Amino acid sequence: MDNRPIGVYDSGIGGLTVFSKLYNKLPKENFIYFGDTANIPYGTKSKQELLDITHRIMNFFANQNVKAVVMACNTTSAVTYDSLKNDYDFKIYPLIQTACQKIAELKIKKIGTLSTEATALSHAYKNNIQKFNPSIDVIEHGCPKKWVEMVENSTQNLLENKEIIKENIDILLKENVEKIILGCTHYPYLKEALIEITKEDIFIDPSEFFANFIANEVKITMPSEQKLYDAKFFVSFEPKKFKESSSLFYKVSKEPTLIKF
Ligand code: DGL
Repeated sequence: MDNRPIGVYDSGIGGLTVFSKLYNKLPKENFIYFGDTANIPYGTKSKQELLDITHRIMNFFANQNVKAVVMACNTTSAVTYDSLKNDYDFKIYPLIQTACQKIAELKIKKIGTLSTEATALSHAYKNNIQKFNPSIDVIEHGCPKKWVEMVENSTQNLLENKEIIKENIDILLKENVEKIILGCTHYPYLKEALIEITKEDIFIDPSEFFANFIANEVKITMPSEQKLYDAKFFVSFEPKKFKESSSLFYKVSKEPTLIKF
């Protein structure tokens, strides 16, 4: 039995799409969520910038005495996980590498990914899907940072933003992909706008596979005996805005604690 908390992080509210599922699947676990709102967006940053940021987050979680950290962020899973996975004495769960084992089992020939530019440029989805199933063709598309901004600002339903979403989806639809992975944890917030463009079952949210995998592993390898406190939230900028825009996946009940490091 291990009552130490599990850390979950992203650049903002996107990681709540993963956190909300873990929270429901693991009712006895103690969670700490960190939204790095001072550094958002991650998707346009260099590898060095993302490494510095990820190390600072890992050190924050180390000080919180976590037993595991969930990278609820595609971009840092893609760009930084391989470089730092052995640097800490707690388990680190990367989103893309974990979810792709399951995605590779799909009986399809061509799949598209929508992600940040940094994730697309890393080819993490293509490499990790083809590692398990080389016969799936993977078309990776990097979306403009506006996609993340509209989620953080809750402006995804403005007509001009719906146009931007459609332009990007059309690029993948023209390639005749059979499925589209929402390869940024912010994108499930765009669901309403996405399903106006094409059928809902074309979209795959990898956070579902990811959360199932982690929940099973935590229950077997490091279960907590009891919940000691409800989830604690921290952000690096604008706690009020985080609370206000969070509600679609998890309603944060009080303003997160502001931290700087
Ligand atoms: N939500 C994150 C991801 O899954 C980061 C988005 C960003 O900050 O650009 O990649």
